[in-house]
Amino acid sequence: MDRHIQIFLHRLSFASITIATLTLLLLFLQTPQTCVPPNSPPKPHLKFPRSTCDSSPRELVPLDKKNRRLWSSRAWKSQVSSFSHFFTSIRHLGLLHNHSKVLCVSAGAGHEVMALSKVGISDVTGVDLVDSPPLVSRADPHDLPFFDGAFDLVYTGHLEEALFPARFISEMERSVRDNGVCVVVVQECGHEEVREIADLFRHSSFVGAANVSLIGLRMTRIVMRTSYIKGFLSGFHIILEAGGLCRINQDYSSE
Ligand SMILES: *[C@@H]1O[C@H](CO)[C@@H](O)[C@H](O)[C@H]1NC(C)=O
Ligand SMILES: *[C@@H]1O[C@H](CO)[C@@H](O)[C@H](O)[C@H]1NC(C)=O
Repeated sequence: MDRHIQIFLHRLSFASITIATLTLLLLFLQTPQTCVPPNSPPKPHLKFPRSTCDSSPRELVPLDKKNRRLWSSRAWKSQVSSFSHFFTSIRHLGLLHNHSKVLCVSAGAGHEVMALSKVGISDVTGVDLVDSPPLVSRADPHDLPFFDGAFDLVYTGHLEEALFPARFISEMERSVRDNGVCVVVVQECGHEEVREIADLFRHSSFVGAANVSLIGLRMTRIVMRTSYIKGFLSGFHIILEAGGLCRINQDYSSE
């Protein structure tokens, strides 16, 4: 290589190193400029927590503003509209009326609660482990804070995520009045799974199951009607024998 060029390249790299070093030094020596003016009032939410019990308010956007933003989103509107269709079909089955008292268990952000209000049901309650005011209050689905028989219809679309499905269902049944209705929506399934779910209801009789499309998913809707007669009989096996004899066996295993 040409000697002149080599010397030139050496000088160039030496100059680059010098510039880089000076820049670094400058960065170290200069006080960092922040966006917060030094005389601004302290912000409580920027305080570093001293223990895990220290709660700092993270909610910076007011609730109604947050809700307005959420409820005007396209995803929210289309899901609420899908739930509205779903509950309208329940109404057409004669299972839901404007004066019905309805409970939605594991209601999440409250799509179904809003949909029920939109189709004209005035008394709707939504609960979940995490609240989502004003649509959903906080309550444990496995230990619902309601009197026995407080509702005409109890709906859930989240039985599959329940930690204890039998307990979840017994709380749904307990909260619905005698001759009231429980509606469960699960991922699309066949008659075998439908029967397994229906069997978890100890005080209800099976009304029907149907495949439905809900929020763009293929689901199966299972409807049960509470009847304490079934609960009374569920402790027994009624065996009709060929001769027309009726024998009733106490089923001790279920006690
Ligand atoms: C129920 O409420 C909806 C919406 O308010 C209304 O359009 C409908 O007529 C009501 N149905 C009955 C039977 O009152
Ligand atoms: C729902 O559809 C699936 C697939 O078509 C079918 O196997 C299943 O039996 C249907 N379930 C009910 C409850 O009709």
